[in-house]
Amino acid sequence: MYSKNIIIIGTQWGDEGKGKIVDMLTDHVQGVVRFQGGNNAGHTLVIDGHKTVLRLLPSGVLRDNVHCFIGNGVVVSPSALVNEITDLEKNGVSVSDRLHLSQSCSVILPYHVALDQTRENSRNSKAIGTTGRGIGPAYEDKVARRGIRVVDLLHPERLAERLQKVAHHHNFMLEHYYQVETIPYEAVLEELLHSADILKPMVADVSAILSELNQKNANLLFEGAQGTYLDVDHGTYPFVTSSNTTAGAASAGSGFGPLNFNHVLGITKTYVTRVGAGPFPTELKDALGAYIATKGHEFGSVTGRPRRCGWFDAVMMRRSAQLNSLTGLCMTKLDVLDELKTLRICTGYKHRGETLTIFPADTEILCECQPIYEDHPGWQTSTFGIQTYEDLPKNARAYLERISELVEVPISIVSTGPGREDTIIISHPFG
Ligand code: GDP
Ligand code: IMO
Ligand code: MG
Repeated sequence: MYSKNIIIIGTQWGDEGKGKIVDMLTDHVQGVVRFQGGNNAGHTLVIDGHKTVLRLLPSGVLRDNVHCFIGNGVVVSPSALVNEITDLEKNGVSVSDRLHLSQSCSVILPYHVALDQTRENSRNSKAIGTTGRGIGPAYEDKVARRGIRVVDLLHPERLAERLQKVAHHHNFMLEHYYQVETIPYEAVLEELLHSADILKPMVADVSAILSELNQKNANLLFEGAQGTYLDVDHGTYPFVTSSNTTAGAASAGSGFGPLNFNHVLGITKTYVTRVGAGPFPTELKDALGAYIATKGHEFGSVTGRPRRCGWFDAVMMRRSAQLNSLTGLCMTKLDVLDELKTLRICTGYKHRGETLTIFPADTEILCECQPIYEDHPGWQTSTFGIQTYEDLPKNARAYLERISELVEVPISIVSTGPGREDTIIISHPFG
């Protein structure tokens, strides 16, 4: 038997519909793995009309018997994780017997949350628009090699000693640089020990379990959070998150060897959205942008902030395809465009009189780019819930096929609504 290990990646600025697709595909897998980010993610699943938003837990958790893994690349707020598990278990979903939390995950502390929010406030109009969950400061502590890891939670004395040092470091900054309230170390320690008691049975050597499952020919799905252009190296820096969000992170963030992956499925909205600040060449700052936001319910699933909306951008997608080695596209939210008379696709950028067909790596240049568009006739009929490609209106098919041609990646899946069943499978990734 041949096992398939698939990476699911957001190809734009996040919120492409990754949660829905991961959930849908998990009827074919034994394990789902998160490998970066933290509870800045908000992945929405709609099952039989019931909506669940997952932040840290992999989107396979609503399928019985699917093992869920939080890999070493994820930054974990122990209290947020405990709350998420408790909420699901209250609703009858068993989690603790199927969740494996890497001992090497870095821990998000209340200091990180305070620093994230305080810094954002002090930046005023220059704010990045972070989710305020402490993600950036937690990754900073990780690379500075002073962070607390999940394994430390299992050793109270070691934890107390390390936490004291970290607390001293951050409280100094909070008090003397930002001049805000400090956070008493004792209260943080108490909260961590409480969460540790609950999480202890789930702490595991994730890399070793994944390797074992792979040897048994299990199918595994690696669930990216955020999106390609929020990648700390390849995204629109500094308007990015603090982790690598591109496909390469799946290996480093889980300890699963790079040659084990067979496919990279790029989850891609049929238009573009962005939440938070930063350049967005095809943004629609007019009534049409507001219309798409309303029709697509484009409000952040973590913070409730309105998402900025714009036309499909093939220039950014071509780079995304290269950065992630995309082997297939999953085009989402097609139904949101149903009523539009004309649709535009950005095929190049104008920059100081020159035409760019490659997405500029320099954010300053991107800020000065003007999109070049080609127009496509809309279909002005409902595609909501369509499950067969041939049932799509001709103009919708032409729009999708043009996107695939420009991005040079075949389309495997089209999503026509938020529910599991609102999906067209052209070629099944596990097929
Ligand atoms: P994620 O972060 O990539 O998992 O995406 P989010 O869950 O943050 O945002 C996607 C939103 O679009 C959610 O509210 C989904 O329920 C919804 N959604 C996903 N696919 C579709 C679709 O094809 N059509 C419509 N109308 N909504 C969708
Ligand atoms: P999912 O997984 C969309 C954005 C924030 C901000 C920037 C940095 O649901 O697609 P951070 O809190 O990470 O330091 O914020 O990144 N951001 C997201 N945008 N979807 C997400 O996750 C995001 N996670 C972070 O809005 O611009
Ligand atoms: Mg989201």
